[in-house]
Amino acid sequence: MSGDSPQDWRHPGYVAVIDLVAARAGLLPPSCPPAAMEGIDRAMARAGLSDFPTYLARLEAEPAMLDDLLVELTIGETYFFRTPEHFRFVRYQVLPDVLRRRGPGHVVRVWSAGCASGEEPYSLAVLLMEEGYGERMEVRATDVSRAALARAQLGSYSEWSLRGSEARHMRPFLLAEGKRYRLVPQVRNRVHFGYLNLADDTWPSHTQGLWGMDLIFCRNVLIYFNRPTIEAVARRLHASLAEGGFLIAGPSDPPLNTFAPFETILTDWGLVYHRTAPGQAPWAHSVRHAPPPAPRPVPTPPPVASTPPMPSPQPMPESPSPLGLEGAKRALALGDWGEAARLAAAHPEDAEAEAMAIRALANVNPLAAVRACTEAIRRHPLAVELRYLEAMLLLGLGRLADAERAARQAIYLEPSLAVAHLMLGHILRRQGDTEGARRAFRTAESLCATLAPDTLVPLADGERAGRLAEVAREERTRLEAVREETRE
Ligand SMILES: C[S@@+](CC[C@H](N)C(=O)[O-])C[C@H]1O[C@@H](n2cnc3c(N)ncnc32)[C@H](O)[C@@H]1O
Repeated sequence: MSGDSPQDWRHPGYVAVIDLVAARAGLLPPSCPPAAMEGIDRAMARAGLSDFPTYLARLEAEPAMLDDLLVELTIGETYFFRTPEHFRFVRYQVLPDVLRRRGPGHVVRVWSAGCASGEEPYSLAVLLMEEGYGERMEVRATDVSRAALARAQLGSYSEWSLRGSEARHMRPFLLAEGKRYRLVPQVRNRVHFGYLNLADDTWPSHTQGLWGMDLIFCRNVLIYFNRPTIEAVARRLHASLAEGGFLIAGPSDPPLNTFAPFETILTDWGLVYHRTAPGQAPWAHSVRHAPPPAPRPVPTPPPVASTPPMPSPQPMPESPSPLGLEGAKRALALGDWGEAARLAAAHPEDAEAEAMAIRALANVNPLAAVRACTEAIRRHPLAVELRYLEAMLLLGLGRLADAERAARQAIYLEPSLAVAHLMLGHILRRQGDTEGARRAFRTAESLCATLAPDTLVPLADGERAGRLAEVAREERTRLEAVREETRE
């Protein structure tokens, strides 16, 4: 196995399993052998096996056995409207382009390849519905994890899946069910889920409906693959696109343009791949549609009573990044929670590292993440990020009073932290305090408005001030509309 020293592995049987996975599923050697060995142990236990020769023979003979193992070696991190720039590109560039080329009767064909628990294809379905394609869309979603597909088809999500800033697009289609939300059938029925191992040479496929796509999302999946698999998958993705179709990969995925004849479109957030039709002008030279509207300048509202003073917000001071922290950040971005938690937990003296480990843990065990957060706050009582994280986790668990306390503590420590006011607004609204929620959203809005629209907002996961101001304003005006209705 390339790049790993044999002493990383407790038994040569593990190495043989990983080699088989590389050969059959095209996966890179795992970056964290201890986590991989634990995963293999779990898969073997599910199969009722404890000896490697029998397990290897079963992996060779039974595709379902291999699928079950792949689930242990890859991670299903995802959430609604993850990486909002991609969805904005679809809304403002892809759909108008498809409409212009294929006409208003065309059924838009979309594929989420590596869909995990479904947040990505459902986000695409909602976007298409918002844009008026309710009856003219075909959304396919595939994954190698049958467990993830089952969760996707169930359509039941926790607040954690709604942690992205654009998740509000989903809220009208979610019904509260205790602490979870159930997606309405109107959206659930729009997406066709199916099993597919992208490393298998079984697609494009007419029988599975995986062909002639106007748009493919294949995000944060290719990072797992070795080079020969990336090359083969890139060629098949190109072949699965309709002429004029678009492919969007994840921000950390390897570049694909050298492996298939894609035209690459360079945007200010990354690359989009385009299958240019013969005779069609390249995208770069074709008539372009109106670009996504720039975030509108937000008028500064008058000072709000009973809110803390608002010093002009500054990015959080960065603590010197200890060795390994960058690796933890990358692992977290890729959804490799085990690795992120392991790297970050090695730095309990660093509040930022603690927060990262807690974020990683929250994906697998929110209760344990809350406990870890309480511990970390004890060590770093002035770390605002930890208080904010605690509020977010408690909100996810439905512990609203505790979440409110944590959010107010974050605000006390950093009155200009716009995301904490936004969070407080969500908490108060769920508690039925409409007026308090409205004030909190208004404060968040005015704090963002003091920043240039493209400034990154502290602790906002890459969101910019203009966009967050818009989010806060929409939340506030929605509450005001309800207030007006109840007055009438
Ligand atoms: C990090 S999730 C990405 C989810 C979603 N695309 C997103 O970006 O939010 C990676 C998904 O890829 C799936 N996956 C890994 N290897 C795969 C393969 N060979 N074929 C299909 N899916 C695969 C995993 O099961 C997991 O659900």
